[in-house]
Amino acid sequence: MIELIDKKKLPRHVAIIMDGNGRWAKERGRDRLFGHQHGVISVREMVEGCAEIGVEYLTLYAFSTENWNRPESEVQGLMELLISTIRKEAETLHKNGVRLYVIGDFASLPQVCIDELEEAMNITAGNTKLNLILALSYSSKWEITEAVKKIAQQVQNNTLAIDDIKEETIKQNLATANFPDPELMIRTSGEHRISNFLLYQLAYAELYFTHTHWPDFRKENLYEALLNYQNRERRFGKISEQLK
Ligand code: IPE
Ligand code: IPE
Ligand code: MG
Repeated sequence: MIELIDKKKLPRHVAIIMDGNGRWAKERGRDRLFGHQHGVISVREMVEGCAEIGVEYLTLYAFSTENWNRPESEVQGLMELLISTIRKEAETLHKNGVRLYVIGDFASLPQVCIDELEEAMNITAGNTKLNLILALSYSSKWEITEAVKKIAQQVQNNTLAIDDIKEETIKQNLATANFPDPELMIRTSGEHRISNFLLYQLAYAELYFTHTHWPDFRKENLYEALLNYQNRERRFGKISEQLK
């Protein structure tokens, strides 16, 4: 499969809604946390797969603002898994040239989690092979609300005139200011929705949905999605003939 992929037509940025851990575990008669633990293997596969093939940015939706409403034991289990995974993987990420970023309401995370993530971000700050962006305690409506507040503040301070608010101003005030928009968004496990993920940034992304549950998602599945992406015509409002 990988040999069919055109390396010159890769998306620079792939974003993934990692869904289906709970259902995957339930099918095996196990608790939801078992599914989340296995999901870490898929994360590793995607980081490796993207780095190997030459995708520059990978954003993973790991925990949404709405996920705080899950049963307390699951939230706690997820936070502990996050902490132990970052602790275990930071060195490997660094060796492989991966730079870690976090988008989301950082302050809402437990302090141990913040410390672990900050350390990993510092260690990997000089890397350029792959930018790995974890969306944690993230939701698009939260992000856009924060951006509006920042812009309003600049207007109030007289550092920004209302007439100078451009699309670029919005982009610059989002948590993703330093990243290009994703060209490809993948959601696993069969749900056809965005669930408050990168609403602004996905404006022209190609959306790819698969029934595969996240813990079963492997490099081959990524290649399949990339191939599917490459066979689409991205018109951006124009007509087919104009693209030749
Ligand atoms: C995705 O899997 C992981 C997180 C949202 C943290 P789910 O936990 O949503 O699994 P399902 O959708 O219930 O199967
Ligand atoms: C979206 O999955 C959030 C993450 C993958 C982190 P959910 O499972 O929480 O989304 P809904 O509730 O099905 O929309
Ligand atoms: Mg889900």
